[in-house]
Amino acid sequence: MTPSLLAHRGPETPAFTGRLGEIYAKMARVVPAMEWPFFAPDVAAITELKRQRNAIVLAHNYQTPEIYHGVADIVGDSLALARAAAKTKAEAILLAGVHFMAETAKLLNPGKTVLIPDPKAGCSLAASITGADVRLLRERYPGVPVVTYVNTSAEVKAESDICCTSGNAVAVVESLGAPKVIFLPDEYLALNVAKQTAVEIVAWKGHCEVHERFTAADIRGFRESHPDVIVLAHPECPPEVIAEADFTGSTAGMSDYVATRRPKRVVLVTECSMSDNLAAEHPEVDFVRPCNLCPHMKRITLAKIRRSLETMRHEVTIEPAVAARARQAVERMLAVGRR
Ligand code: 13P
Ligand code: SF4
Repeated sequence: MTPSLLAHRGPETPAFTGRLGEIYAKMARVVPAMEWPFFAPDVAAITELKRQRNAIVLAHNYQTPEIYHGVADIVGDSLALARAAAKTKAEAILLAGVHFMAETAKLLNPGKTVLIPDPKAGCSLAASITGADVRLLRERYPGVPVVTYVNTSAEVKAESDICCTSGNAVAVVESLGAPKVIFLPDEYLALNVAKQTAVEIVAWKGHCEVHERFTAADIRGFRESHPDVIVLAHPECPPEVIAEADFTGSTAGMSDYVATRRPKRVVLVTECSMSDNLAAEHPEVDFVRPCNLCPHMKRITLAKIRRSLETMRHEVTIEPAVAARARQAVERMLAVGRR
């Protein structure tokens, strides 16, 4: 170990005392003490910058523990982050997540500054479809309403009747009262929804590059090596994976399952950081950890969040005519939850 690393260690150093010590305690089970002195200065600076800028940090469940437990004001799935963005009184919103999440926050807060620490934080689902594709689908299926997963660009949302997330997809589809809907762009989520409703679903061939890699054989392998394991899967996984799981739900659904059911041993068939974040909170639960990283989520780091709040970049902007139509689709979705 280098002398500088040694000098940073030990519970008596500033990183481990006072407010920083309390913050570290939240993630101590998953972030080694040796690493914390490297994160602590950024966490302290971000805390102060949030106060100066009257800014709030919304972090997705796939963010790393030093972000999720260290600087986030609100954590959650896409739906919870959209709801929090709609409600906040803060003047600026920093989205620790991917670009479509920041765009959704901007749609709901056109007058506020919305920041994304790395504008290249994309999503394979959002990249799988354009507004022109949606217009062609409407020509092919005249009169059939379009339900669009929030994992899309504002341009695609603007061509849609209503948005949904993995947490409310069935309720949104059924809210339309239509016998048939076009459901975009995640084919696997669409198949998963189709199993739970009588509404006929027309799907697109978009896939999440993280969840499409899981296989049914993976799940059987987890059960062979850990016979008592409870398998929770995200609905973006292929249907044969969902068929092998004990429970399917959004990232918030999985988190609630662990918090309320407290399984002895669990495997979350989703992005890696989710298990780290929950393991920090639930020492009594043993997490089996397959690791599929989302390269887009991992573009967001503490250093980039700090820089973003220092420079107030990168600000999310949406062309006003697109924003007005996309906002309607997101607001219709939020209204479904309030019915
Ligand atoms: P959730 O809405 O379930 O958090 O999912 C978002 C996402 O990007 C999953 O890959
Ligand atoms: Fe997109 Fe998949 Fe990454 Fe979620 S995990 S942001 S769906 S690529």
